[in-house]
Amino acid sequence: MKYDICIVGGCGHVGLPLGMAFADKGQSVVLYDINDAVIEKVNKGVVPFKENGAEKVLSKVVKNQKLKATHDKTVIRDSKVVVLVIGTPVDEHLNPKVGDIIRAIKDVEDELRDDQLLVMRSTLYPGVTEKVEIYLRKMGKKTLVAFCPERIIEGHALTELYELPQIVAGTSAEATKKASELFKLLTKKIMVTKPTEAELAKLFTNTWRYINFAISNQFYMIANSHGLDFYNIYDAMTEDYPRLKTFAKAGLAAGPCLFKDTMQLSAFSGNNFFLGHSAMLVNEGLPLFIIDAMKQKYDLRKSTVAILGMAFKGNNDDSRESLSYKLKKILEVEADIVLCNDPYVNDPRFVSIDEIKKRADIIVLATPHSVYADEKWDGKEVVDMWNFYGNGGLV
Ligand SMILES: NC(=O)c1ccc[n+]([C@@H]2O[C@H](COP(=O)([O-])OP(=O)(O)OC[C@H]3O[C@@H](n4cnc5c(N)ncnc54)[C@H](O)[C@@H]3O)[C@@H](O)[C@H]2O)c1
Repeated sequence: MKYDICIVGGCGHVGLPLGMAFADKGQSVVLYDINDAVIEKVNKGVVPFKENGAEKVLSKVVKNQKLKATHDKTVIRDSKVVVLVIGTPVDEHLNPKVGDIIRAIKDVEDELRDDQLLVMRSTLYPGVTEKVEIYLRKMGKKTLVAFCPERIIEGHALTELYELPQIVAGTSAEATKKASELFKLLTKKIMVTKPTEAELAKLFTNTWRYINFAISNQFYMIANSHGLDFYNIYDAMTEDYPRLKTFAKAGLAAGPCLFKDTMQLSAFSGNNFFLGHSAMLVNEGLPLFIIDAMKQKYDLRKSTVAILGMAFKGNNDDSRESLSYKLKKILEVEADIVLCNDPYVNDPRFVSIDEIKKRADIIVLATPHSVYADEKWDGKEVVDMWNFYGNGGLV
């Protein structure tokens, strides 16, 4: 066959670094995607989003023709392994959109061959891998099916793909063997589970993180509403205290994965996942808490407020599901003028740091991009829930 690996949804945040990593290990990789703008970028060696260390690897694997991107889905039939990694969001009612995966499979079904391995890598609602297996068998296909979830932290794929163990769950022993061989090209440790266990392992991983951020955010709100400095308490608690190693700092907990995966798990637990929903109330409530506290301290109606950072996390350009936008929306009701800045997110409505320095009365540090560290905000009020500037996280 012409290609070792075809990645469906290959120009996205998960697909592209994965394809680059395989190509860098000598595999011939083709990325099938439906977004022509990103396909063009990738084929020119341009990484369409911020990903540490990606430029060098992409230009290398494009130049040595180990990787290319295309909108032509017939490349699927020319590949030994097909990895599916399209987005799996929740819908407007926070229910998993299981149909998207089945639709994507139907869309490429004619290209799938009996001697291929199909690896599902998107985060899946429990049971979907088996549903895909049943669907393919119904269509008379013998394609092997495995679920191998991505657990990389966005922006660090090109280190973590090689360092983290890979969970592998085939729907048959042969699928598990082939998928394990595939990921052994990247990492030493393979953890084998059943498909539904692996689907839950991925959801548990993200939900565990989301709940942990909620603990910090709730503690932050408790301390703050009593006029106490959460970070002074945090430092006292965590200094040389190993049992609190994973105690996160407070801050906006958002992005395209943690929230929606917690909601997927909630749907899987009959909407009785009290801890998950509580975490959602806390994390989604933090912008409201911040603005309420600001209202008590400042005359917001007469204030120009600037939001620093619109990406969902620091040093990243991904604004999907960023809570900075929730802050912006509420502040547009409460404040006189709202200005936004982000060094990495492109938006013609955003203003420069110089303009913020000229016009803003209050600064809200929403996303702790390192480039903000050297800025001086003389004469301005700074709301710093991250304690980024080290003056305490009080509003
Ligand atoms: N972003 C992360 O850090 C991360 C981490 C772990 C797991 N995940 C999971 O991985 C999956 C993908 O997330 P992502 O962030 O890479 O999404 P993304 O939106 O960045 O990428 C998805 C890509 O798929 C393409 N696409 C959509 N439908 C398609 C179709 N029918 N055929 C071919 N291409 C199609 C899109 O054009 C896009 O390039 C999700 O399930 C997500 O939950 C993401």
